[in-house]
Amino acid sequence: MNLLLLGRGKTGSLVAEVAHERKHRVRIVGSKENTACAELTSEKLRDIDAVIDFTAPYCILANIEACVRAGKNMVVGTTGWYPEIERIHELVEKHKTGFIYAANFSIGVNLFFDAARAAAAALRRGYSGQIFERHHVHKKDAPSGTAIALQNAIRQAGGGPENVEITSFREGEVVGMHELVLESGNDRIYLCHDAKSRRGFAEGALRAAEWLVGKKGFYNFKDVWREL
Ligand SMILES: NC(=O)c1ccc[n+]([C@@H]2O[C@H](COP(=O)([O-])OP(=O)(O)OC[C@H]3O[C@@H](n4cnc5c(N)ncnc54)[C@H](OP(=O)(O)O)[C@@H]3O)[C@@H](O)[C@H]2O)c1
Repeated sequence: MNLLLLGRGKTGSLVAEVAHERKHRVRIVGSKENTACAELTSEKLRDIDAVIDFTAPYCILANIEACVRAGKNMVVGTTGWYPEIERIHELVEKHKTGFIYAANFSIGVNLFFDAARAAAAALRRGYSGQIFERHHVHKKDAPSGTAIALQNAIRQAGGGPENVEITSFREGEVVGMHELVLESGNDRIYLCHDAKSRRGFAEGALRAAEWLVGKKGFYNFKDVWREL
């Protein structure tokens, strides 16, 4: 595929690496070249099969609007735009493009969430639950977006009206560890996802771009990753 990658930061640079390994051609655009979406006109995107975005919340909506209006398929890893999700969904339908997004493109994390949803049944059978998340000391937010998503997934899976409490740790260079611990008087269940690197995000995003070829519509990665 001919890919345009927006963002050459921590995740974007890994997406470029994995894209080359998977034999795609990649053009990478950073913030300086893309002021006011200068690189996202129909003319400049003519030869591009899909755009992958790992940029920042301040520019993501403008990037999405420009690419969708130019009729291009998009894979969006950037977070922070979900309050506008319905408007973007309509825009994608109107322009008949393909669009896939995720707060977490890691297949392992999506599997872990499935296991956690199944385990949520324990909370209706007398177990108490706790979420622990560990990340590197440079991380600005706490709790992590993934821990909050895990908490929501457990509640939506019928884990009771009360949210499972999240405890955050910031230690050394930990890439990202999430644990769900369920405890009764008789036993303890541990579910844990421990990321070794950011490559899981990059691989998932690339596989999503490959899956999107020839498709139209608005997709959440959590609903389609099993098909990849
Ligand atoms: N869905 C997932 O699986 C997943 C995984 C990891 C991260 N994320 C999300 O992805 C986003 C990026 O994360 P990150 O850790 O890679 O951040 P990062 O290291 O800060 O990288 C962001 C990059 O975007 C570039 N950029 C900013 N505005 C741009 C524009 N208008 N056009 C093109 N490039 C632009 C920045 O360039 P300059 O440095 O030149 O400003 C920077 O290189 C965040 O929203 C994060 O939450 C999602």
